[in-house]
Amino acid sequence: MMIKTVIKGDIVFQKEPTKFVTIKSGYITIENGKIASVSDALKVDGDYEFLDFDGKLVVPGLVDTHLHAPQNAFRGTDMDLELIDWLNKSPFSEEAKYSGAEYAEKAYGIFTEGLKNSATTRACIFATIHKDATVLIMNMLEDSGLVTYVGKVNMDRNSPDALTEKSADRSIIDTVSVIEATKNLKNTKPIITPRFTPSCSDELMKKLGILRQKYGLPVQSHLSENLGEIELVKFLHPEVDFYAQTYDNNGLFGKSLNGESFKTVMAHCVWSGDGERKLIKDNGVYIAHSPISNLNLSSGIAPVRRFLNEGLKVTLATDVAGGHTKSMFSVMVSCVQVSKMYWRLVDQTLPPITFAEAFYMATAAGGEFFGKVGRFESGYDADILVLDDGVIPSCTTLSPDNRLERYAYLNGDLRSGGICAKFVKGKRIF
Ligand code: GUN
Ligand code: FE
Repeated sequence: MMIKTVIKGDIVFQKEPTKFVTIKSGYITIENGKIASVSDALKVDGDYEFLDFDGKLVVPGLVDTHLHAPQNAFRGTDMDLELIDWLNKSPFSEEAKYSGAEYAEKAYGIFTEGLKNSATTRACIFATIHKDATVLIMNMLEDSGLVTYVGKVNMDRNSPDALTEKSADRSIIDTVSVIEATKNLKNTKPIITPRFTPSCSDELMKKLGILRQKYGLPVQSHLSENLGEIELVKFLHPEVDFYAQTYDNNGLFGKSLNGESFKTVMAHCVWSGDGERKLIKDNGVYIAHSPISNLNLSSGIAPVRRFLNEGLKVTLATDVAGGHTKSMFSVMVSCVQVSKMYWRLVDQTLPPITFAEAFYMATAAGGEFFGKVGRFESGYDADILVLDDGVIPSCTTLSPDNRLERYAYLNGDLRSGGICAKFVKGKRIF
């Protein structure tokens, strides 16, 4: 039987990056988990469920293309360090704790509940090296109704003992056991996750490339984030022209060694030079721009306008806990803000990113990593947020798209976050 739902509200969505389309008191029809129509008139026949959110904003769900679940526990601490010192102090000591089932259960329970209640509908998530804890969080996320990719992290060098896998083979065997243990999950899928080049031996990278191809999986990692990290990669790999080749030479950068394409998302790319950006484009690699993390870890400002001018695929990410907040609305705001500073202080030929462009990156652009996601168009998955911006008192009258921008900027001011309903693939999460 066809299940139909109609949502009524002030609909704000995009067909292109630079503009919003608004329909005041409009209707979205959902059929079998997918958007069927978006209209100013009620267009549905037969039985349907009617959800009246008149006066509230109805917008696409937000896609966070890069965050670390185990780092949720220390968000907002040790924020006075740069990347490599910070990794050694906070993430590495925290992530070692996930060898224990009891700690993992508690911490991942808090993480999953937080993500479920946030504006995020889809996410690409790093777990830790531990297979049992990774299977555990994947099952928790499956129960949440969110759609996610989750990676068991691979690392076999330059890391503390507790986080150094005993061999490349051990790392591969544990990765396979996560893939096998989660193969029946519908909404929670594995993703190959070399942490970053400094923590993965050549042998491990090579074997991950082979494993990726065998199972046809996507890839996530970090790239050209911070100057200290890039120096380290140069020292470890004098043979390459630029950092991305350390992934690409092993079939882990959007194209396998036989030329087959697969989805890859690389966090940051703050310092990617001409050759690296060309490879990102040629291989269709998605960039996970994480401006809040880049500020916190003094990584720099990614030249997003240049990326867009060159036709690269730019998505947005919190990078919890390099980024202290899980709010994708805050990430959009920072994306606009840092682009203004880049334009003002670094390169006046690269105009700032607008709020519409930032919203598009967090919805349509990030959604593409997951398939037909992130747009209010017929046939797309019905990932929808209903926002109650009436919780921000004001006596001015604003257009729905101005209300959305104000909601993004002021969301930290809201008592309850102001999200009154969330749907993923047409299923109501809360
Ligand atoms: N590079 C390698 N590991 C990490 C991490 O956990 N966070 C960030 N921001 N960068 C990394
Ligand atoms: Fe990260």
